[in-house]
Amino acid sequence: MPEYFQDRSSIFADESVLVEEYTPDELPEREAELTELGAALSPGLGTGRPHDVFLQGKTGQGKTAAARFILDEFEAEAADKDVDLTTIFHTCAGQTSSYQVVCNLVEQQTGENPNGHPKRTVFDHFYDLLNDIGGTIVLVLDEVDAIGQNDLLLYELSRAKDNDHIADDVDVSVIGISNDGNFLAELSPKVKDSFRERRVMFDAYDAEQLRSILERRVEKAFVDDAVDESAIALCAGYAANDQGSARQAIDYLYEAGEIALRQGDTRVTDEHAEQAEAKVDRRSVMRSIEELTLQDHLALVALVVLEAHGETPARTRRVYATYRNVCAEIDANDISLDRVRDHLKELDLLGVTQYTTRTAGSEGGRKYFWELNTDLGATIEVLDSIDRLDGVMHLVR
Ligand SMILES: Nc1ncnc2c1ncn2[C@@H]1O[C@H](COP(=O)(O)OP(=O)(O)O)[C@@H](O)[C@H]1O
Ligand SMILES: [Mg+2]
Repeated sequence: MPEYFQDRSSIFADESVLVEEYTPDELPEREAELTELGAALSPGLGTGRPHDVFLQGKTGQGKTAAARFILDEFEAEAADKDVDLTTIFHTCAGQTSSYQVVCNLVEQQTGENPNGHPKRTVFDHFYDLLNDIGGTIVLVLDEVDAIGQNDLLLYELSRAKDNDHIADDVDVSVIGISNDGNFLAELSPKVKDSFRERRVMFDAYDAEQLRSILERRVEKAFVDDAVDESAIALCAGYAANDQGSARQAIDYLYEAGEIALRQGDTRVTDEHAEQAEAKVDRRSVMRSIEELTLQDHLALVALVVLEAHGETPARTRRVYATYRNVCAEIDANDISLDRVRDHLKELDLLGVTQYTTRTAGSEGGRKYFWELNTDLGATIEVLDSIDRLDGVMHLVR
């Protein structure tokens, strides 16, 4: 009989603690942020309306976890004080307009999606639902940056009461959460106004904080003594040096456990942590490369061609010439040099390319020198898997 199953119990005790959906039961590293949040919500415990709050910080900083945590605490406190409180948690990821978000909110409450009806009707329906629920309502809109800067959802909601959409005896407050640090700053002034006084910033975790977050996970997720202290510190350190993201640190740890298991070891060591970091990073870069647009891919192929031939760092003009060849090979429309430079800069933000600039003598302009920032072999592998690029990848070899 072939072995279909593996026994994971030599390393893992409870893997559910390591997955994205798990909500931790304590967040001591976010004590200050939780205190600010609690203060903003406090008027809702019998003396007024909870304040609108905006949580901001890069991905993996515990914003979602903190919001879920404080809502639970707030519900318990409200029950204690006989306050009629309802909380609604909604994730806006993948929704590109307030219309979509409100349709989904209605569906969340009623089971039916009003998509297709006029915008005003849908909003009115939603406000009716809120009025029916009554009492104090806290509405959390997680990843609200998904709907874009020009959308007035937050403004609408924060003004709903003034506009008589919400009954006098109903209190609705909004907690907006964004992974995009510039989201609030770039919103129109009237939206900013409603959140001006209440913004809670989530800064990147440092290595020490990440280590204690991991320690607590290890205790629940792994068999006793299955993970070396130094391996935990390594996972924390890697993540701190990169984005300071708890998600990233937990991913390293989980992968390190997988690797130890696969290699038949009963302890997770530094070597496993090292291998895990390389593997997880590679996976995340590869995922972001896969999701790029055609023009990004073409610009990237051009740079990869130069890199494969040892011709980087290369000036934009050089990359552009190669890019034109690449386009010609597969009959793709080519765009201007300036726009290709913009695409290369976007790739830099994703960690795929990197550049240095030099000021060009008497002309005073800036020259860009480009190179690949990801592993060449792995990048070629991903590009090879994209059908549209079939006709150009021979240029790389
Ligand atoms: N202080 C913390 N203690 C324990 N786990 C944390 C802490 N901060 C973040 N996490 C965990 O890290 C992961 C990312 O956190 P999350 O709240 O999703 O971040 P964000 O919403 O800012 O992107 C989640 O699995 C979360 O449970
Ligand atoms: Mg989140």
